[in-house]
Amino acid sequence: MTDAQTAANRIHALRAELDAHNHRYYVLDEPSVPDAEYDRLFRELQALEAEHPELVTPESPTQRVGGEALSEFGEVRHEVPMLSLGNAFEEEDLRAFDRSVQGGLGLSAGDLFGGGAEVEYSCEPKLDGLAVSLLYRNGQLVRGATRGDGSTGEDISSNVRTIRNVPLKLQGEGWPELLEVRGEVYMPKAGFDELNVRQAESGGKTFANPRNAAAGSLRQLDPKITASRPLEFCCYGVGQVSGELPATQVGMLQQLKAWGVPISRELKLAKGVEQCLAYYRDIGERRMDLPYDIDGVVFKVNNIEDQQQLGFRARTPHWALAHKFPAQEELTELLDVEFQVGRTGAVTPVARLKPVKVAGVTVANATLHNMDEVARLGLMIGDTVIIRRAGDVIPQVMQVVAERRPADARPVHIPEQCPVCGSAVERTQLVKRSKGKATTSEGSVYRCVGRLACAAQLKQAIIHFASRRALDIEGLGDKIVEQLVDTGLVASPADLFTLAYDQVVALEGFADLSTRNLINAIKDSSKPTLARFIYALGIPDVGEETAKVLARALGSLARIRKALPEVLTYLPDVGLEVASEIHNFFADEHNQQVIEALLARGLSLQEEGDLNPEFAACATLPGFIDKLNIPFIAATGAEKLAAKFGTLEGIIKADWLDLRQVERLNEKAAKSLRDFFDNPANAQRAALIEAQLREFGMHWESEKKTIEGLPLAGQTWVLTGTLELMSRDVAKEKLEALGAKVAGSVSARTHCVVAGPGAGSKLAKANELGVRVLDEEAFLVELKGLGVAL
Ligand code: IVH
Repeated sequence: MTDAQTAANRIHALRAELDAHNHRYYVLDEPSVPDAEYDRLFRELQALEAEHPELVTPESPTQRVGGEALSEFGEVRHEVPMLSLGNAFEEEDLRAFDRSVQGGLGLSAGDLFGGGAEVEYSCEPKLDGLAVSLLYRNGQLVRGATRGDGSTGEDISSNVRTIRNVPLKLQGEGWPELLEVRGEVYMPKAGFDELNVRQAESGGKTFANPRNAAAGSLRQLDPKITASRPLEFCCYGVGQVSGELPATQVGMLQQLKAWGVPISRELKLAKGVEQCLAYYRDIGERRMDLPYDIDGVVFKVNNIEDQQQLGFRARTPHWALAHKFPAQEELTELLDVEFQVGRTGAVTPVARLKPVKVAGVTVANATLHNMDEVARLGLMIGDTVIIRRAGDVIPQVMQVVAERRPADARPVHIPEQCPVCGSAVERTQLVKRSKGKATTSEGSVYRCVGRLACAAQLKQAIIHFASRRALDIEGLGDKIVEQLVDTGLVASPADLFTLAYDQVVALEGFADLSTRNLINAIKDSSKPTLARFIYALGIPDVGEETAKVLARALGSLARIRKALPEVLTYLPDVGLEVASEIHNFFADEHNQQVIEALLARGLSLQEEGDLNPEFAACATLPGFIDKLNIPFIAATGAEKLAAKFGTLEGIIKADWLDLRQVERLNEKAAKSLRDFFDNPANAQRAALIEAQLREFGMHWESEKKTIEGLPLAGQTWVLTGTLELMSRDVAKEKLEALGAKVAGSVSARTHCVVAGPGAGSKLAKANELGVRVLDEEAFLVELKGLGVAL
């Protein structure tokens, strides 16, 4: 075989395989290979076709990427007109339709007692997209067209080819020579949301709903744009056909599916009008969970001969009907914009709307997210807006109807004072940091500076403090928190711990037992783990995970409270932004008072302990230099500097000549370093961080010193259980004097565990990991052996 033949064979095999995967994925809903495998095959085909352009054919799966842009669309005449459907909104409309079908087919419609002949209907969802016609000649897709006015549409062949689930070639065999497939092109909800995010980020136009997005994407002169949009196709019928097809609507769709044409997986056959109504209700209930928008269901007389007998009137068939659902979008008036204050003080705009029914639910409020969203929508009070309630239950304001803006429309202003407490509202520019360097982004948040003096923030803070994953105070629900704050009994989380029986029992809804239960629940919550407590404080950006990381690494509240932002950035997944939030929280005087009050009122933390040795080992001199983000000093430069000067002080003091001797440190970098440390603020800051690393026992030198000479250098010991011959503090001191680190938890890195009576989980863990274990006596012998005087 020649090379070209081998390539042709492989290309053929790859196309067949990709087509089969596509078919399994889009038509049968049974993906057969992971996406990565599909991509690999696809790239292989692309590469082969690039080498052999003469072997590229229009139906190759690579040809979906979009060809040349057009200057205008050509015209397409529909040999069989593309019709529309009559609508039913009420159950009675559907019953009347059924009776007229029975009449048209000469069947008895029954009497008051029922008993008429039952007509078979195919039931399909009514997808909310746009109708297209796909023409297949000898199994090859040769043309795609829009519906247009029903008799003439636009030629959108290049665009439909880019739709992933449109078969470029029919599968199997037996298809008629000429087959015109009709159906809906639509955009699934998830793809629509993603597209709008992308569009907003790139400053492009956002779409009001998936239907508009589908229409806008399909009618693009540049098919590459269409290719980049998440469109899908679903077939519901045929137009021109040169041969025979199955004699029923359902049979025909199933035949098309066998040829690789996607059809709805909600397709059902109903016998009689009652089953149609059951289908309508069932789909209606699942509507919000479907991955695409639908505006109703379509019933079609199943028997095609019966369809022909029933015929058409003007542009709608007598044999089919659309039973519509309540609209997912409605117009209403924006009466006002009010502002809500959240736990962290964020002031967010909320739309107050003239109540309107959307998809069966009355909507009077909608979140506007933030002021950037208000600006993006160009919203003014008094505007008529489009409200949409779709995939989720929260209604959204999608668009302003600009033409309906009244003359007295008012702009939306963020209040200068907090609507709840009257404190100032401050604007914070959202800052994005890349590699520690701040770049302001467009977003901004407004915050009430009142903190716990603001009733709204206080309530939210207490609700969070008491929540299940925080202090877990059972029975302290939102309504009770509101009362406690509104009556002035509680002005900070610390006040919960001094609530007296008489105060609580006097509240609405409280009796003797419920009062005692609440007070006991508060008391029971007073011994939280360090991690829960940190989470409960509600530090901005500190969720449960970060709280756990903080507790595990730093070990004590005291250390967490004083940690500098730069030191916190040694934690996994903590950037300078979050680190600064944490630092600022603890630096805040009011927060300090609350924490002091909590501790004074009996809150005691569990699981406090030592600095985690693994965390302690993160701080190295080159890493530290890198962290300072000195322009032009990258990781390798930092390595070289550390190697040459050995200490931070050495680097700070190094003069120009010294720096120029550092291998591979160019002039620009040397100058930048000098400029950086010539600024006394930078030098002081670096020294301050270094001092904290030393204090915490994280400093690179503290490790070095122990390594030099001491008998237990580099070892980590754990003390557990009760020591009877020597206090724990003394034991710890002795071990540290020998160069060991004493840690609070056992890991594979632990060298030895000293276990006194009552030792529990740490001992078990040591045994499990095969870590050496000594009882107290053996420990003393060991110490003696190392020359320790006892
Ligand atoms: S049948 C003669 N079936 O609704 C039958 N149409 O209002 C003509 N549509 O233009 C169409 N889902 O864009 C049919 N399962 C479905 C449909 C459907 C959505 C759209 C289609 C049509 C419009 C008619």
